[in-house]
Amino acid sequence: MTIIVTGGAGFIGSNFVFHMLDKHPDYRIVCLDKLTYAGNLSTLKSVMDNPNFRFVKADICDRDAVFALFEEEKPDIVVNFAAESHVDRSIEDPGIFLKTNILGTQTLMDACRKYGIQRYHQVSTDEVYGDLPLDRPDLFFTEETPIHTSSPYSSSKAGADLLVLAYHRTFGLPVTISRCSNNYGPYHFPEKLIPLMIANALNDKPLPVYGKGENVRDWLYVEDHCKAIDLIIHNGRVGEVYNIGGHNEMANIDIVKIICKELNKPESLITYVADRKGHDMRYAIDPTKIHNELGWLPETKFADGIKKTIQWYLDNKEWWEEIISGEYQAYYDKMYSNK
Ligand code: NAD
Ligand code: DAU
Repeated sequence: MTIIVTGGAGFIGSNFVFHMLDKHPDYRIVCLDKLTYAGNLSTLKSVMDNPNFRFVKADICDRDAVFALFEEEKPDIVVNFAAESHVDRSIEDPGIFLKTNILGTQTLMDACRKYGIQRYHQVSTDEVYGDLPLDRPDLFFTEETPIHTSSPYSSSKAGADLLVLAYHRTFGLPVTISRCSNNYGPYHFPEKLIPLMIANALNDKPLPVYGKGENVRDWLYVEDHCKAIDLIIHNGRVGEVYNIGGHNEMANIDIVKIICKELNKPESLITYVADRKGHDMRYAIDPTKIHNELGWLPETKFADGIKKTIQWYLDNKEWWEEIISGEYQAYYDKMYSNK
């Protein structure tokens, strides 16, 4: 079995590569990644010498490169993690989100059509459903919830999802889609809430909370997401969408306070800054379908997962310190100086 994993040098993709090499030692895992600012080859150094692993630097929008890789590897399964993934960047510059997230998906599926595959899996997001009100805790996103996006990022992911379903109906491509809630864990790029707050707190820098910090996200430990995708590509029904979520809703401000407590840092570091434009209020996934059909349940409780995550950032300072000292610093200054 050969699996092409796109975006495998990023946060979730790299955790998925580790999971698959560990759980399926007879599989060949080929990682295709452009190594944008969010992709980091050092993340993959522990598997670079594994004979069942190959890394290829390429853009999913580059038809020649993608088709050449398919010709060479004849993959059985493709799992597409490659994307521009940060909402704030999509508000600054939507264009690259449409290109990578929609046209890159099309290129991959065209290659899948030409070379024939058992499964094309699209890694999508709960953000395609828009948001839920804070005063209706009884409401959750199901797979039937209408697409109703808020940001250029979520719109580009929704566009890709629609295209994936269209390739299934029109061309019979054997696809599945998963829509997951917010992940956290090792190798999370420090522009996102949890790793940014850990890195800033460790450096005694202000902790920039958007608006009042009331926005709610449904946090899932990244390994649980990887296990869900593993189940879907093997046992999920072709043409179906599966929601993945942790039943673990938390307000941003509470997460930041937990990080302060765990690191023994004062809450006076918390700084309320201007809100994100179009900021979604609450995400909450109903994972009944994947539980009933595939037996999936989240295994890591948030109290344990956040401790493991913080410990990982303490033990791997060189990984994130190198990132925040490079071009990321210019991004940070630009994004947060006028907030
Ligand atoms: P990430 O930003 O950490 O990593 C993205 C990876 O894709 C990087 O390695 C980058 O180099 C690569 N990439 C970007 N453009 C590319 C291109 N044109 N060609 C090849 N590679 C390219 O993202 P992540 O947080 O790991 O998210 C992975 C996927 O999961 C995304 O599709 C995202 O929409 C989805 N998702 C993320 C979350 C989350 O909480 N992070 C939740 C649900 C779904
Ligand atoms: O829900 C799944 C999505 O989760 C994925 O599709 C996205 O790829 C992923 O980036 C994530 O999107 P969010 O926008 O929810 O994640 P982010 O870490 O950027 O922000 C989480 C919350 O924290 C959000 O309400 C905004 C807030 N926030 C974020 C940052 C970076 C702050 O208050 N301060 C910050 O500095």
